[in-house]
Amino acid sequence: MGRSKKRNNKENSQENSPKKKKNYKFQTIRGMRDILPEDQIYWGKIRKVVEKIAYDYNYGRIDTPVVESTNLFERATGEDTDIVEKEMYKFETTSGKKVSLRPEGTPGVVRAYIEHGLRTKASPIKLYYIGPMFRHDRPQKGRYREFFQFGFEAIGEQDPILDAQIIQTSLRIINAIGIGSNKLDVQLNSIGCKECRPNYNKLLISYLKNRKQSLCMNCKNRLDKNPLRVLDCKEEKCTQVIAQAPQSVDHLCPDCKKHFTFLLECLDELKIAYAINPHLVRGLDYYTKTVFEIWAKDDEEGRTALGGGGRYDYLVEKLGGKKTPAVGFAAGMDRLVEEMKKRKIKGLKPPQPKVFLAQLGDLAKMKSLSVFQGLEKAGITVAESFGRGNLKAQLKKANQMGVELVLIMGQRESLDETVIVKDMIGGNQEVVTLKKAVKEVKKKLDKIKKEIRIKTTPN
Ligand code: HAM
Repeated sequence: MGRSKKRNNKENSQENSPKKKKNYKFQTIRGMRDILPEDQIYWGKIRKVVEKIAYDYNYGRIDTPVVESTNLFERATGEDTDIVEKEMYKFETTSGKKVSLRPEGTPGVVRAYIEHGLRTKASPIKLYYIGPMFRHDRPQKGRYREFFQFGFEAIGEQDPILDAQIIQTSLRIINAIGIGSNKLDVQLNSIGCKECRPNYNKLLISYLKNRKQSLCMNCKNRLDKNPLRVLDCKEEKCTQVIAQAPQSVDHLCPDCKKHFTFLLECLDELKIAYAINPHLVRGLDYYTKTVFEIWAKDDEEGRTALGGGGRYDYLVEKLGGKKTPAVGFAAGMDRLVEEMKKRKIKGLKPPQPKVFLAQLGDLAKMKSLSVFQGLEKAGITVAESFGRGNLKAQLKKANQMGVELVLIMGQRESLDETVIVKDMIGGNQEVVTLKKAVKEVKKKLDKIKKEIRIKTTPN
C-alpha cells in the first residue's frame, strides 16, 4: 500500500506540476494494467475454454455496454452494497445523465433480457459474456480496478437442477483450464427468499444487537440495513460473534428447504464435493436461495474466490420485467490467470510457423509483402524479419525457429518475379515463379508432412 501510495502521489505531482510536464512519463493508472503479448496465451486459453463450454451447454454470447445508467446498478446490485456505495466509477455525461462503468455483468444482462423481450424466446434463456468490469477498490494481489470476468446467466427457470448445472458448468470450465477439481472448494449456502428471509433477518439482528459492543464499526453500521453482510466480516472481533450466530439454512421456508435439498442431491449425484458455509452471503443484494463460491484450495495467503454466483429470482421484476426466476455465476479471469501461472498450467500454444520469408534488397523487401499476404491468405503461417537486410542473420533466425521451408527473395528473383524455396529438412532448393509460389509451398509442406509421418510411424 505504501508503495502504491507513493506512486500515486508521484503520478499526481508529475501530472500537475508545470515544471515537470516535459518529463512526464505516462503510465497505467493505479489498479489498471496492460496485458502484454506473452500473457495472452493464458487469456486466450480461458476464452477458448469458455466459448467451447458455453456452446456445449447451450449458452449464447451476449455483449452489453461497459457504461450503463448508474441507476441500474443501484437498483440491481444494491444501494447499500460496498460495490455501489464505494466502488463504482460514476460520472455525468455532458448532457447530465448519471452513468457508471459496470462493476459486474448481471444487471446489464438482465436489462438486455427485458429490453429485447428475450422472454419470448426459449425458456430458460442462457446467456454468457466475457469482458472488463470496474471497481474502485483498494488494489492488491488478485484485486484490480479494471478486471475481467466471464459470466453465465440462465434466466426463466426456477428448478434447482439449473443451480446444480450452473455449478457444474463453472467447475467444468475451471477444470478444463487445467485447475483440477481437487484444487477447488465449492462453498455453498441458501439465504432464503422473500418469505423466510425477513424472519431470519429479525433473528439475526436481535442476536447481533445483543452483542453490538463486540462488533467492528462497519458491522455496527450495517446491522440494521444489511445484517446478512455482517456474517461476511473478516474482522477478528466480529468472527467470534458470527461463529455462534443463527444460520439461514436452519430457518428456510418449506419451498427454500426443498430447493436446497434437491440441489444438494443433484451435487451428490454429480459427485461434486461442497462445503455448506453458513457465513457465505455474497456482497450483492439480488440473491435468493442458492449462493455459492468457488475457491482456490491451497492458497496460503487465505481464500481466493475464483468465481461466485447464485439464484436471483426477483431481479428481472425489480428492473421492470415480469416475475422471472434466474441463476448465474461469474469468474474472475485475472485470478484464473494467476492460478494458471502459479500451478504452471500451459496457455494456448502459439501457432508454429512452418515457413520463413527472407529478403535481400529494397525491391525484394517490397515484393515480399504481397508474397507474405498470398501465403497468409492460403492459411500458411509465415515468419519474417522484414526490418533486417542481412540475409545471414535472417537465415540464422529461420534455423532457430525450426521452420520447414525458407523462401528467399533477392534482387535477381524480384526482377524475375521468382522466389527460391529452400527445404530446411531435405536441404535441396529450387526457384519457382511468384505466381506458383503458394501452390508450390503447399505441395512441399504436404510432402514434408507425409515424410515425417512415415518416419515416425512404427512398423
Ligand atoms: P462477484 O463475486 O462480485 O460476483 O465477482 C465474481 C468474481 O469476479 C469473483 O469471484 C472474483 O474472482 C472476480 N472479481 C471480483 N472483483 C474483482 C477485482 N476487483 N479484481 C479481480 N477480480 C475480481 C459477480 O460479479 C456476480 N455478477 C456473479 C453472478 C452472476 N451472480 C449471478 N450471476
